[in-house]
This record gives sequence, structure tokens and C-alpha cells, in this order.
Amino acid sequence: MHSPARKFKAGGSGARRLYVDAKAMDDSRIAARPPGYGVPPEVYDIACGWDPGPEIARLLQVARWAGCRPGSALELGCGTGRLLRALRAEVPRVRGLERSSAMVEHAHRCAAPEVRQGDMTDFNLGRPFDLIFASANTVRHVLEDEALVRLWRCIGAHLSPGGVFVADLELGRAAEAGKVGPPVTWTVSRAATEVRSTWRVVAPPAGDTCRCRIEYTFEARGPRLSGRWQERFALRTYDAAEFIELARRHAGLEPQGLYEIRDPYLFETPAEKARGRFLVVLRSPQPTPAPK
Ligand SMILES: C[S@@+](CC[C@H](N)C(=O)[O-])C[C@H]1O[C@@H](n2cnc3c(N)ncnc32)[C@H](O)[C@@H]1O
Repeated sequence: MHSPARKFKAGGSGARRLYVDAKAMDDSRIAARPPGYGVPPEVYDIACGWDPGPEIARLLQVARWAGCRPGSALELGCGTGRLLRALRAEVPRVRGLERSSAMVEHAHRCAAPEVRQGDMTDFNLGRPFDLIFASANTVRHVLEDEALVRLWRCIGAHLSPGGVFVADLELGRAAEAGKVGPPVTWTVSRAATEVRSTWRVVAPPAGDTCRCRIEYTFEARGPRLSGRWQERFALRTYDAAEFIELARRHAGLEPQGLYEIRDPYLFETPAEKARGRFLVVLRSPQPTPAPK
């Protein structure tokens, strides 16, 4: 079943409304993903091991709408490199930055040598990228205000003129508060191993800190890999206008579009699917042509 991505005009001046081909933006096979840093990367890789093709297609499509046909791309918080392995077929030069050494080692074992260990709030790769992106709530892991400023400065400093940054995240403080309670669940199998995952918002954004508490659980069953991992952690919560304003102020980026993603394919009930997950598309300004 096709479910068109709903579109909104991004807040602030400079935003423009973009129209979406509902068929091309079919998200019925795309799921939200958990972080999974305490879990063995092998388990995480299976838990998030659905076909990355639709996510890559969507990423490149919104980049194109913002005027970018990337020759180079950088993923922030790339985990095991599952998206980069697919993106490589479409973009000549890809690079990933990942903080967890276990994830980086696994990425290298899984033929993603372009993954480097590093912190997305403090990096210098010595070259710009046409496209920078962060999947699945990854930017929400930056909690401290100072780190957040550094993150945006690093993004601004690494985008080519006219380059595009795409963040995939759940937006909305009120929406997050409304998700407290029952978990969303999904199951992925690879070879003889099955991983069942749950993601639960335990507590809503608290006061000025804008942090909510999340709990995830992964349960793996297989001949070589089995166990149960559970972790609680905080995620920063944003309203859309707030996120866009940070990008403008600290990275000089202009909003190009805000797209809601519907129907994550692994979730089972309508309530689970309606998570309020968005792609925020921002662009670095083009240099002004010199007067003739
Ligand atoms: C939600 S996971 C997404 C992983 C991958 N992008 C994917 O879609 O499968 C977030 C990833 O960001 C990484 N991460 C969190 N904070 C980071 C930081 N400050 N710098 C680099 N990576 C970070 C985590 O280790 C984790 O692998």
C-alpha cells in the first residue's frame, strides 16, 4: 500500500514548499531504527538489516529537490555502514563517521572501509562534501548545548557551497510526550538468526533540557548469536522551527523542505506507524557571483 509522505513548509524565511511524487516517496518499507550502542554490532546489524534501498532513494531524491546531485557524501553516526554500502552504488565518494569502535570494526569486516572512527561534534576531515546526512534520530544523541553548537559548525564547515544536509529524526516535543508508554516492536531475520527489537519512550522531554528517556531491547535467537540487551538513554527533542533555527545560526544553512515519513514497514499497528518522523533538508548558501 502506498502512503504519500506528507509535506510541510519549513519555518522561517527562505523555505519553499516542495512537492513529492507519492509513489517515488513510498515509505511503506522503511522503519525507524534504534541506536544499539551497547549491543554487539552483529546483533544491531541484523536488527536494522532491512533493505536500505528505499532509504537511499529517498535521501537522494530530497537532495535533488534541494538542487544537489552529490559526487561526495558523508554520513554522521553511520553505525555498521549499512547505508553507505548501498549509497556507494549511487555516489562516487562516500565516507562515514562513527564514534563506537565496535561499530567501526564491524563496518570494516562488512566491507565498509570508508567508515572512520570519530565524533560528529568534533571532526575535521580536510575536505568538503556535497551531501551530509544523519539517519534515524542520530543527531538527537547530541545532548549538551556546547556539543550541539560544535556539531552544526562541523556540518557547516564540511558542506560544499550549495551542498545539502539531510537529517532524519522524530520531531516535536508534544509528539514525543504522546509516545510515552507502549513500545514499538519489529523483528528481522538473517540466515538462522532472528532479532526482535523494541523501542519505548519511557519519559517525556523534561523541562529546559528537552531530553526524553528511551529504552530499547534487542533479543537475538540463533545458533551462533543469542541473548538479550536492554539500555536506557536520553535523546534531545526538537520542534521543527527550533532545529532549523540552530542550523541557520550555527551552520549558516537555509531550510529547503521538511517531509514527514509515514508507514515504517516493520511496525505493525497504525499507532506505531504514525511516529511523526521527518526528513529536514537544509542547504549551504551558494557564493554570490562577483559583479561584472
Ligand atoms: C541510530 S544509530 C544509526 C546508525 C546508522 N546510521 C544506521 O542507520 O544504521 C546512531 C549511531 O550514531 C552513533 N553516534 C552517536 N553519537 C555519536 C557521535 N557524537 N559521533 C559519532 N557517532 C555517534 C552511534 O554510535 C550509533 O552507531
